[in-house]
Amino acid sequence: MSELWTAEAMVAAMEGRPFGQLPKSVSGVSIDTRTLNPGEAFFAIKGETFDGHDFATAAVAAGAALLVVSEGRLPGLGRLTCPMIVVGDVLIALERLAEASRRRSKAKIIAVTGSAGKTTTKEALRRALSGSGTVHAAERSFNNHWGVPLTLARMPADTDFGVFEIGMNHAGEIRPLVKLVRPHVAIVTLVAAAHLGHFHSLDDIARAKAEIFEGLEPDGHALINRDDARWRILRKAAKDAGVKHIHGFGEHARATYRLVQAVLKPDHSSITARIGGSEIVARIGAPGRHMVQNALAVLGAAHLVGADVAKAAGALGAFQAEKGRGARHVLAHPDGPVTLIDESYNANPASMKAAIALLAGTQTGQDGRRIAVLGDMLELGAHSAGEHAGLAEAILEAGIDRVYLAGEAMAALRDALAQHVAVDYRPTREELQPVLVAGVGGGDAVMVKSSLRLGFAGLVDALLEKYPPQQTSTAADEG
Ligand SMILES: Nc1ncnc2c1ncn2[C@@H]1O[C@H](COP(=O)(O)OP(=O)(O)OP(=O)(O)O)[C@@H](O)[C@H]1O
Ligand SMILES: [Mg+2]
Repeated sequence: MSELWTAEAMVAAMEGRPFGQLPKSVSGVSIDTRTLNPGEAFFAIKGETFDGHDFATAAVAAGAALLVVSEGRLPGLGRLTCPMIVVGDVLIALERLAEASRRRSKAKIIAVTGSAGKTTTKEALRRALSGSGTVHAAERSFNNHWGVPLTLARMPADTDFGVFEIGMNHAGEIRPLVKLVRPHVAIVTLVAAAHLGHFHSLDDIARAKAEIFEGLEPDGHALINRDDARWRILRKAAKDAGVKHIHGFGEHARATYRLVQAVLKPDHSSITARIGGSEIVARIGAPGRHMVQNALAVLGAAHLVGADVAKAAGALGAFQAEKGRGARHVLAHPDGPVTLIDESYNANPASMKAAIALLAGTQTGQDGRRIAVLGDMLELGAHSAGEHAGLAEAILEAGIDRVYLAGEAMAALRDALAQHVAVDYRPTREELQPVLVAGVGGGDAVMVKSSLRLGFAGLVDALLEKYPPQQTSTAADEG
């Protein structure tokens, strides 16, 4: 069992009070008793619906080496035999441990934000950097006020590269998180209408993303999508934050990390890119133009942290989209194989358009159709109807043959498409499910995408169950 933290270091970092006989060290940090491994420290975080203190007994049963609990809840926990570190506030204690982790680390740190592609870029970086040293990266999306400090507190002392995803729903959320992470390289993947309901405009979203530059290490690098319409706003914000090294990635002629050529194939892409003075040729295992853009960010970041760029480029060949983020299945339909693209994890206008373009480039069988199965994009506020109807253009341009829609907001897209393409609309995912399952035919390529809450993963599962796949290509570890 490897040691992550000595109890002594934890007490010192968190200014906690030992209670009981503390072990010498812990092997990990956990906030969830369902995934806690024996020997780990359990932090009793209070979330929106649950309070970790109510799971203290479960943590002990799961083999927690020690509990971190709040002074106020101690009286109710006194009968537990497990040693504890008592603190004023458990989340703040986790942040302190995260700070201590960052202080002790010699790792090169990369932080990723943006309206889409954070997790994808993070997972691609995990692969790309692993040829140059040990990599620590967040699990799943872990990009918020508890996910970021948890990921940082979990970083082993001898890590060479740390990759952090930082997300936001509102202005002001990235700033404190990036100040914990203190990256050497801060990536902005793109700015799009995600959570637009909480902002006045895309410019405001760009300014909120730009908070990531405020936490850069002195002499750190900003790495920004050069093709993004808000490049100027982002660059100015980086300058205002005192960042001296500002780079763009993309196909723009002035991009530091520039795409020279891209060949998009149904199942992969091949690119030539100018990275640090030399031309790099790379195969990207996951198809789609958006993956090319993510790959440019990855290669740029690899260059900036001094990793082996050729190895990084080589690793991208095996990169596959994550579950819910473009993972593919080939279903065994009796009338011929069906390609299913699972994009059920998330959707906003930018990622919807990326996925529609991806579907357009996907091969079908003979007589097969390209089918888009789309659900609501949430959190768009007053822009919702316009952004949903606005997808019609992308769908028609892509030559999609058939569209299945579910969700209240998708009614706007149904109306916009009505005269132009075959559409099946149902108010809910549940009602759409049998219609879709019956409608899919041999040779079709089907792309399923929606905001998570619509439950479109259920549609993917239903199709997988009805026509069990011949083969699946998805990333080994879910991101
Ligand atoms: N560079 C990109 N441009 C546009 N869309 C993208 C890009 N990269 C990925 N996507 C799309 O965005 C979806 C979500 O990708 P990913 O999970 O990487 O984003 P994220 O930013 O981590 O999202 P979240 O905010 O939910 O954590 C993917 O399924 C894909 O459709
Ligand atoms: Mg994510």
